[in-house]
Amino acid sequence: MKKTFYITTPIYYVNDIPHIGHAYTTIAADILARYKRLTGYDVFFLTGTDEHGRKVEKSAEEAGEKPIELANRVVKRFQDLWKRLNISNDDFIRTTEDRHKKVVQFLFKKAMEKDDIYLGKYEDWYCTPCETFWTQSQLKGGKCPECGRDVDKLQEESYFFRMGKYQDALLAHIEKNPEFIQPETRRNEVIRFIKEGLRDLSISRTSFHWGVSVPGNPQHVIYVWIDALINYLSGVEYLNDPDKFARYWPADVHLIGKDILRHHTIYWPTFLMSVGIPLFKKAFAHGWWTNEGKKMSKSLGNFIDPVKLIEEYGVDQVRYFLMREVPFGQDADFSHQAMVNRINSDLANDLGNLFNRSLVMAMKYFEGEVPPSGSGNDRLKEILEKTFFKVEAAMNELAFQKALIAIWELVSAVNKYIDETAPFSLAKDEGKRDQLSSIIYNILDTLRVITLFIFPFMPATGEKMWDALGIKEPIAKQDLSKHYQWGSLPSGAKLKKIPPLFPRIT
Ligand code: MSP
Repeated sequence: MKKTFYITTPIYYVNDIPHIGHAYTTIAADILARYKRLTGYDVFFLTGTDEHGRKVEKSAEEAGEKPIELANRVVKRFQDLWKRLNISNDDFIRTTEDRHKKVVQFLFKKAMEKDDIYLGKYEDWYCTPCETFWTQSQLKGGKCPECGRDVDKLQEESYFFRMGKYQDALLAHIEKNPEFIQPETRRNEVIRFIKEGLRDLSISRTSFHWGVSVPGNPQHVIYVWIDALINYLSGVEYLNDPDKFARYWPADVHLIGKDILRHHTIYWPTFLMSVGIPLFKKAFAHGWWTNEGKKMSKSLGNFIDPVKLIEEYGVDQVRYFLMREVPFGQDADFSHQAMVNRINSDLANDLGNLFNRSLVMAMKYFEGEVPPSGSGNDRLKEILEKTFFKVEAAMNELAFQKALIAIWELVSAVNKYIDETAPFSLAKDEGKRDQLSSIIYNILDTLRVITLFIFPFMPATGEKMWDALGIKEPIAKQDLSKHYQWGSLPSGAKLKKIPPLFPRIT
C-alpha cells in the first residue's frame, strides 16, 4: 500500500472573483501535491468554493440574482483559473452540493446529541463582510478589528457550540504536537489566544436564510464557518464512502492564509473533538501579498488578476515567482520589476541557457543522441544526492523558497562544470572523444534530475524539458525518491530541439 497524503486549500467565497491571493494558496497546494505524487505518495488534493452565508446572499441581491445563480457563475471563474494555472486537484467541492450539506447536518446533530450544542441568545457586534461577531474589547476604535469596517449590534436566538469545554484538550494537543500549527509565530499566536479563554461559539443565524438549515429547526441556518470547515470531510466522502474517508483522513495539511488561522486552529479542531473525528495533522498559514507596496482592497480596486499576469508573463513564470520571492509564511509584495528580474535572471539566464546550450552541444557532437555514460563525475553525483535531501527536507517544511534555492545551486554547479570541463574545446580533439562523451552524459543526466525537481513548480516547463531529453517514460510516472541518483538517463535516447524555455523580457 502506498503512503497517502491529503492536502486542502481553503474553499473560496463566491462573492468575489479570484485574485492573486486565492491563486497563491492554490498554487502552493498544487506544488506540494505534485511533489508528493512524484515521491511515491497516493495524493488527494482538494479545493472548492464556499457558497453559503450572508455575504454571498448580499452580493447576489446586489447583482439581482439568486444566490445559487451567483455561485454557478462565479464557481466557473475559479474552475477556469485553476485549469489555466495547471492545478492538479483531485476533486472540487461546492458547499451547495448535497454530498456536503448532508454531512453538515449529520455532524451538527451529532454534536447536539452530545449536548455540545445548545440554544441560547446572542448579542454582540457583528461585521457582515467578515461574517464574524466581535466582543466590545476586540473592536479597534469601534470598528471590525479584521477589516476596519463598521459593525452592528445584533441580537438573535442562536445555537451555541460549547467550545470552551475543549479548551484544555486543544491546548494540550497543540503543546504536544509542534507540527500542528505552523509557522511557529502563528502557533504562538494561537496558544496566547486560547490561554485568554475560549467562549462558547455562536453557530447559527436567523437573520438570513442562505445556508444549511439546523436539523429540526429550519428557522436557523448553520454558521457559514462550521458549514465551510466541514468540506474537508465531505470532500473525502465522509458518510458516502467510508473506505475513501479512511484512506485519506486525517488530512496531512490544511493550507490557509493567516487571516483564517483561528477558524482552522480553534473552531475546527474543537468541533472535530466534539464529534469524535481525529484531528488533521497540520495547518500552515501563509502570509499576505500586497501590490506594489499597497494593501489590495475593493476600495482601491487594485486586486491583481492572475489571468492578466499569466497572459503577460506565462503560467510557470507566475508560479515560480510566487514561490521564489519570499519564504512561505511571510508577507510579500508584488512588483512587476521584481517579476521581470526573476524571469530574466533565474529562468532565462540560469536555467534556460543551461538547458539550451547543453542540448545544442549534445546535438552537435553526438548526432542528436544521448552519448554513452562513462563513469560519472564524483562532484556532480554528490551534489545530486545532497540536493535531493535538501529539497525533500524543505518541501516537508513547506519551505518552497528554500527548495528552489537548493535546485538553483545545482543549476549553478552544472554551469560551472561546463565552464571547467570546456566540452567545446575537447570536441576539437578526436582523441578525447570518450572524455567528451562522459562529460556530455553527466550534464544531460543532471538536467534530467533538475527537470524532475522543477516539475512540481513548473509542470509545463518540466514536460517540455522531459520531452527534449527524449525519455520515453512519462515524467509523471517517475519516482524522484529513487530517480534522483546519477545514471538513469538512457544512452541513445533521441534528443529534441526546442525553442528557448523562457524568453527574456526587455
Ligand atoms: N471561505 C473562507 C475560507 C473557508 S475554508 C474552510 C475564505 N475565503 S476567501 O475567499 O476569502 O479567502 C481564501 C484565501 O485567500 C485565504 O486563505 C486568504 O488568506 C487568501 N487571501 C486573500 N487575500 C490574500 C492576499 N492578499 N494575499 C495572500 N492570500 C490572501 O476566507
